[in-house]
Amino acid sequence: MNKSLLTGLIRPLSIRGFSYKTVKRPDLSAKRKLTSPPEATDNDGKRDHLNLTAQIKQRILTGGPITMADYMKEVLTNPYAGYYMTRDVFGQEGDFITSPEISQIFGELVSVWCLSEWRKVSSPSPFQVVELGPGRGTLSIDVLKTLTHFNLGGQFSLHLVEVSPYLSKMQASRLCFKQELVDDGPCYMKGETLMGTKVFWYKRFEDVPRGFSIVLAHEFFDALPVHKFQKENGKWKEILIDVDTSKENGFRYILSKSETPMSKIFQPAEDDKRDCLEYSVETDTLIESMAERIKTDGGISLIMDYGHFGEKTDTFRAFKKHKLHDPLIEPGTADLTADVDFKRIKYIAEKNDEAIAIGPVDQGTFLKRMEGDARLEHLLENALPENKSNIKSGYEMLTDPKQMGSRFKFLSIFPAVLKDHLEKFPISGFN
Ligand SMILES: C[S@@+](CC[C@H](N)C(=O)[O-])C[C@H]1O[C@@H](n2cnc3c(N)ncnc32)[C@H](O)[C@@H]1O
Repeated sequence: MNKSLLTGLIRPLSIRGFSYKTVKRPDLSAKRKLTSPPEATDNDGKRDHLNLTAQIKQRILTGGPITMADYMKEVLTNPYAGYYMTRDVFGQEGDFITSPEISQIFGELVSVWCLSEWRKVSSPSPFQVVELGPGRGTLSIDVLKTLTHFNLGGQFSLHLVEVSPYLSKMQASRLCFKQELVDDGPCYMKGETLMGTKVFWYKRFEDVPRGFSIVLAHEFFDALPVHKFQKENGKWKEILIDVDTSKENGFRYILSKSETPMSKIFQPAEDDKRDCLEYSVETDTLIESMAERIKTDGGISLIMDYGHFGEKTDTFRAFKKHKLHDPLIEPGTADLTADVDFKRIKYIAEKNDEAIAIGPVDQGTFLKRMEGDARLEHLLENALPENKSNIKSGYEMLTDPKQMGSRFKFLSIFPAVLKDHLEKFPISGFN
């Protein structure tokens, strides 16, 4: 990594208070805050989960058992009662906390990575920064702040792919000093930051305009629906979800009697020997589209998530109030998630020779290679005494292999034509 980038970052950035209980990150529009985060529209999802349960039950009673992917999609993104759609689910008060919310060091080092790799591919300008599933918008805020600090404010626009109306309003209120809902093709909202960077919102990655893009995805792919297949007598059957008539408002897993439409078309990679696995067709489609764009328009991508390298079979689970929860109970009140299969992503990204995927590397390794220790030291030198232990424990949480350091992985995707170039100039954080 180019150390001058980090040094440049270290000096002028202000030191902020730190706590990962109530993460209050500086708002770029703080000087003139014209909007505030939207009010949650329900009572922690308690009321709506009954509606959602009834809807899913009705759907099964009418059309038969549904796939796990259909269930996950309905539970997470049903427009009226989906888990992400109507409230803030992050942080101490919510169900889980994510790395950008734990420590500012995370977003700063990811931003330095973007800058360093953009320069390595000869600084194309103008360019787009795209974030998939920005949550509260904290990572985008850090990227915006860092790139603006390096005087790139006028050279890029920010494109957010967010399905949740509630979260997109929250992102806009934190990122922009003005924003408006628009009826302009697939872009549903536009805004502008105080520094003049234009921000756009879409529901799907495919709708983001073409052009050189730096695509970031933190804890996005784990939220995409997965099918679950099991091989029997050489054929893939599928785990489905049915109504459990022995319980009020209950569901249960069943195994399909024969192949299903999705299990029929599913094609594992040649060396995948598992006879039970989770498969996300939405991930495949998105990675195919990303690889095609990276080849045609140029671009780089950084995927950050918890996951495995093609060895796990059963990772579908739910989280509620920071604890594991039964995914079939009270749908809509808990996060549903499955580990990301990085081996599959790599296979799909590379299969048409459009892109190369490098990694995955462990989060702890990546952050330390990006000079995270130096950034920590600098923050500690300048922190108020009462904030020091939180700053330290936040960074430890991100990097310690026993905490988030090895469960979370980073994978980067570059144009295939750069293969030789990247051997000479290795990708920061990956070597
Ligand atoms: C687990 S959260 C991660 C948030 C943020 N990246 C972070 O790390 O704090 C998943 C994010 O993806 C969004 N999301 C989930 N499924 C989506 C989909 N199919 N399309 C677009 N956004 C989606 C959610 O609304 C949320 O913003």
